[in-house]
Amino acid sequence: MTKRALVTGITGQDGAYLAQLLLDKGYDVHGAVRRSSHGGVADHRLKWLGILDRVKLHDADLLDPSSLLRTIAAVQPDEVYNLAAQSFVATSWQQPILTSQVTALGVTNVLEAVRTIKPDARFYQASSSEMYGLIQHPEQSETTPFYPRSPYAVAKLYGHWITVNYRESFGLHASSGILFNHESPLRGTEFVTRKVTDAVARIKLGLARELRLGNIDAKRDWGHARDYVEAMWLMLQQDQGDDYVIATGRTTSVREMCEIAFRHVELSMEDHLVIDPDLFRPAEVDVLLGDPSKAREKLGWTPKTSLEEMIREMVDADLERLRDRGHRG
Ligand code: NAP
Ligand code: GDD
Repeated sequence: MTKRALVTGITGQDGAYLAQLLLDKGYDVHGAVRRSSHGGVADHRLKWLGILDRVKLHDADLLDPSSLLRTIAAVQPDEVYNLAAQSFVATSWQQPILTSQVTALGVTNVLEAVRTIKPDARFYQASSSEMYGLIQHPEQSETTPFYPRSPYAVAKLYGHWITVNYRESFGLHASSGILFNHESPLRGTEFVTRKVTDAVARIKLGLARELRLGNIDAKRDWGHARDYVEAMWLMLQQDQGDDYVIATGRTTSVREMCEIAFRHVELSMEDHLVIDPDLFRPAEVDVLLGDPSKAREKLGWTPKTSLEEMIREMVDADLERLRDRGHRG
């Protein structure tokens, strides 16, 4: 029997890679997409992966419960992956209410639609290492207490606990993946890795001269999105829903990540980097370092891509994109 999956946030970085993984496994893949004023949907990532014509898209917004109910009724999914969110931490201080509505309450909207229409569907919630915020232990695992530091992280904490609660209250097969930062050539350019690789490629091609960053002393546990979507799928193949930390177990500063990118194109970071105080956040998450032991033991999951390999892949992809654009004029 062909399995059917519904992915909210299918037009985002993780949604696109997850859709590709599920198609490769023979799934019938459906995506929930919100309207945009462009006439179409934000489908450039699905196009980049060459899978746009292989997924079925449905109009649904996390803020509109009736659209979610109708979509789940139409698709009758075996698995629901809730990846949609206002996902940029910096924006969450500018739009805290929207962030709460989508990233927190939106999760309940999806869970209610699952509970009402298809309670035997397995559910994945995209939780975040941002929930650890002001870290309470040097290495963060599933049992480390949370201390969120942004409206985004507070909203994600709600999403995490409502998922746990629906599992315990209604017996849903619901899992929360506490994913540490993961990146790729499909990362939005507002996030620091892609901002860096895009700027490095522009500087190398003579299209820009400087890169402006905020706090380069912050440290993150960075992995590759392609590896992390596999962990999402593995969680839904288990007999019971559960919570899992997905991370590499290595932490690196923004400064070091940036040096890797400049070194790859034989440029010096010091010649181009400008520190911009306006890019510092009202409250910072100084360091994150995940302990993925449970995922390794229970899911058999390990990351495959090193930070160096990933940053080089991202810089190369940005160079290629910019060169293609140049040829097209
Ligand atoms: P992303 O690239 O920002 O994608 C977010 C997706 O959510 C997009 O498809 C976006 O649609 C959709 N969306 C936003 N608001 C919506 C709404 N009201 N209704 C329906 N769809 C909506 O994020 P990502 O990096 O792929 O991350 C996927 C999920 O994992 C997010 O929940 C994020 O918070 C979480 N997460 C990410 C990381 C990470 O490092 N990447 C780590 C931990 C957790 P448009 O294309 O129309 O904007
Ligand atoms: N975006 C950005 N832009 N970040 C910068 C900059 C800059 O110019 N300069 C320094 N940074 C620092 C931020 O202050 C932060 O400490 C770090 O780089 C990483 O920032 P982001 O790449 O924006 O990611 P994030 O860690 O805030 O959030 C991402 O990871 C979370 C998981 O921990 C997002 O993908 C979230 O959705 C996700 O939950």
